[in-house]
Amino acid sequence: MFVALFAINSMARVRVHQHVNPFAPYFRFVPEPLEIERLFARPELPVHLDIGCARGRFVLKMAQIEPNCNYIGVEIREPLVDEANRIAKEKNLENLHYEFCNAMIALSKLLENLPANLLQTVTIQFPDPWFKKKHAKRRMVNAELVETVVTHLAENGVIFVQTDIEFLAEEMFEYFRENADLREIEVTENPFPVKTERETAVEEKDLPVYRTMFIKENSGADE
Ligand SMILES: C[S@@+](CC[C@H](N)C(=O)[O-])C[C@H]1O[C@@H](n2cnc3c(N)ncnc32)[C@H](O)[C@@H]1O
Repeated sequence: MFVALFAINSMARVRVHQHVNPFAPYFRFVPEPLEIERLFARPELPVHLDIGCARGRFVLKMAQIEPNCNYIGVEIREPLVDEANRIAKEKNLENLHYEFCNAMIALSKLLENLPANLLQTVTIQFPDPWFKKKHAKRRMVNAELVETVVTHLAENGVIFVQTDIEFLAEEMFEYFRENADLREIEVTENPFPVKTERETAVEEKDLPVYRTMFIKENSGADE
């Protein structure tokens, strides 16, 4: 069922499978909708959602740099979520929360109660490519996920997407380009002051990164 790879390093990181099959029964659960008032000390702040956050170090550092934003990391590998929430608590970060969720099928349930116009930023960074054609359906970014993200995104909110896998970049960017509420903005660099672990690893190998950004412009304009 799983690609059985167990890794543990000297920093006592939790053991995790490298990939999980998002269609396995365990990952088909329906999450409770996020209750922002319960999660954050200042629930009125704008929200930045990082989907497929792995160990969540990107939002951890962002939450430390920018206290006037609430950060949510979403990840399908539960042990990573537990570990990341423990670290956030240890560091007394009241603007950071991680959620165990299969974003491919359950993001819309997770965001169901999110107050309108709070979601200002969404990042999707180096999602698993699931290279084989027969595994293409396991890719996290699909039409449903894009629809959910755009529905909840505030006016003028931004979506930043990056990956080092060219075919996956084209596939993901196309899903977003098809959405009439979004305008694409060309970016050559990561616009955030923090790089994810994967981005750092890719850059150390001097490999190309494919990135783009979208801004939500005309929500409801034609209604
Ligand atoms: C290659 S890692 C990149 C992690 C991080 N964004 C980075 O750039 O370092 C992709 C992450 O997406 C997570 N992921 C894959 N499918 C997912 C899904 N359906 N829902 C939530 N997370 C998922 C994986 O478990 C993994 O942690």
